[in-house]
Amino acid sequence: MRSLNELLDVHDELRERFALHRDFVVGLDFGRALAELETFERELRVHMDVEEAHVLPLYRERVGKITGGDPEFFLLEHRNILRNLDAAKESLRRLAADPSSGRRQAHEFLDQEWMLHHLIEHHDLREKNTLYPRLDEAVSEREREELLARCGLGRV
Ligand SMILES: [Fe+2]
Ligand SMILES: [Fe+2]
Repeated sequence: MRSLNELLDVHDELRERFALHRDFVVGLDFGRALAELETFERELRVHMDVEEAHVLPLYRERVGKITGGDPEFFLLEHRNILRNLDAAKESLRRLAADPSSGRRQAHEFLDQEWMLHHLIEHHDLREKNTLYPRLDEAVSEREREELLARCGLGRV
């Protein structure tokens, strides 16, 4: 039997993309760090759109407001992550444009980006521990297959 956890595979890809972005910060290549962060954002938005269009509406209907898993929290976290991402891109743009940017600016940037990193990790855990397993329990096998197909993971 399939599991909705298949939809979480993309979290690992996103984590890797974010780590790559930070590798470039550490390597003082702020231009590439920005480019990787922009790619991360594009992929993240695609994933969030899928969740907001297909996963969360069904979760809201079938699971609803449970402790630690209010459907609206997941949406708020998406907005919060994107807002923090905007601030990180803005800082990187400034660093990339300034030839005097160096190691000091790199670690100041990583300190500043800590909140974004934390929000992403926290969101990932809540989806892994609550959203997907609770929804998985609440749907029939046929509904699960239909949801996976709507999210682009139809059986081949
Ligand atoms: Fe999400
Ligand atoms: Fe997710």
